Amino acid sequence: MKKEKIQAPKGVSEYVPPASREFEWVREKLITPARMAGYSLMELPTFEDTQLFTRGVGESTDVVSKEMYTFEDRGGRSITLRPEGTAGVMRAVIEHNLDRGQLPVKVWYSGAFFRAERPQAGRYRQFYQVGIEAIGLDDPAIDAEVIAIADQGFKSLGLKRFRLEITSLGDSASRAAHHIELDKYISNLDLDEATSQRAKINPLRLFDDKRDEIKKLMSKAPLLMDYLSQESMTHFAEVQSHLKALKISFAINPYMVRGLDYYTGTTFEFIHEDLGAQSGIGGGGRYDGLMEQLGGQALSGIGFGLGVDRALLAARAEEVVPVETFTSQLFIIPLGAQAKSEALVIASQLRGHGHVVEIAFGERALKGAMKAADKSGAKFVVVLGDSELSSGSVELKEMSSGDSKSVRITSLHEAL
Ligand code: HAM
Repeated sequence: MKKEKIQAPKGVSEYVPPASREFEWVREKLITPARMAGYSLMELPTFEDTQLFTRGVGESTDVVSKEMYTFEDRGGRSITLRPEGTAGVMRAVIEHNLDRGQLPVKVWYSGAFFRAERPQAGRYRQFYQVGIEAIGLDDPAIDAEVIAIADQGFKSLGLKRFRLEITSLGDSASRAAHHIELDKYISNLDLDEATSQRAKINPLRLFDDKRDEIKKLMSKAPLLMDYLSQESMTHFAEVQSHLKALKISFAINPYMVRGLDYYTGTTFEFIHEDLGAQSGIGGGGRYDGLMEQLGGQALSGIGFGLGVDRALLAARAEEVVPVETFTSQLFIIPLGAQAKSEALVIASQLRGHGHVVEIAFGERALKGAMKAADKSGAKFVVVLGDSELSSGSVELKEMSSGDSKSVRITSLHEAL
């Protein structure tokens, strides 16, 4: 009996060729500006002690209260698939004493993250982020640089229809002052039990509520922006002036709170106009109390996470995904056993020079191999038969024009 096929779990994003090449292109583009700014790779586990997220990300958040993939491992420990990257980076920085070395610690990461959300276009249960974290510096200039790195990543994809929103969630003094007024305001609202419970843990969460009735109630709530301490105000003003010097346009959104509890001071979001409900292509901010919350020293930090899946959707919507970078330069069609062996050698040498080269394997007839070359999208094709082997020259054929010229096999590198 034929066995039933097994399908991927619901709501995961996965990329198979040819789409995976577009994914790879997006991820590389988003990582490059971080590398160029001196950030180093941090490769971390995809699962962590559950406490890292309950303590780090916060129990009032949807991410922790509703969306974590948590399970008991074989040793009876509570483990969670990472829903985000910042808490894990902080854990590793503390564990490996990087905070005792030169500051700021500047790292980037890229990988899969997991949130049990209701799947829809642009929202997945396993999705991909590229992120950076800069730890141990209060200077507003680094806030601007972090934002600029994200901005540069999106621009390098060719994206135009996105905007940057920023706000400041202030220092602890600002938040304490605001907290008192916000609590007063919220206590006069008629809220269901679950909502008032969340408000008790973190009243800012109500600004993030997607329900229209709550949005309406919160539209008149006191805004944190109006309670910023002198220090927070000065810091935020400096971030803005650096962004202006960098010619990065932004809008201030005083209602932005972000979905994770650790944020303080400068916070930001990149929003793409073509993506409908899941329009956030990246976001981040300061988290000045997080390291201490996780048992480390009182060091500040700032970073971002960019959604690779959504950036790809945005690039497709703006039709900026290039085709040509994904295709081979040369497709070699060997005819016969000796030619095949020679093709392996030639291809290997040309790859050593940085050319992308494919070989038609198998015992396909010439016609079938030509079809495969055409399908591969390769720029050039050569047929390698007995006469080519004895003369040492091949006809280098350009696929798009059909033009061809005779080239010495030893000069193929220059000819390409
Ligand atoms: P976040 O805003 O939760 O921040 O996620 C960052 C980005 O990941 C979002 O802007 C979005 O593009 C993408 N994303 C989030 N959830 C999903 C999903 N279910 N499906 C597809 N894409 C998604 C963080 O995760 C913070 N750790 C960022 C950060 C780093 N803040 C400071 N440092």
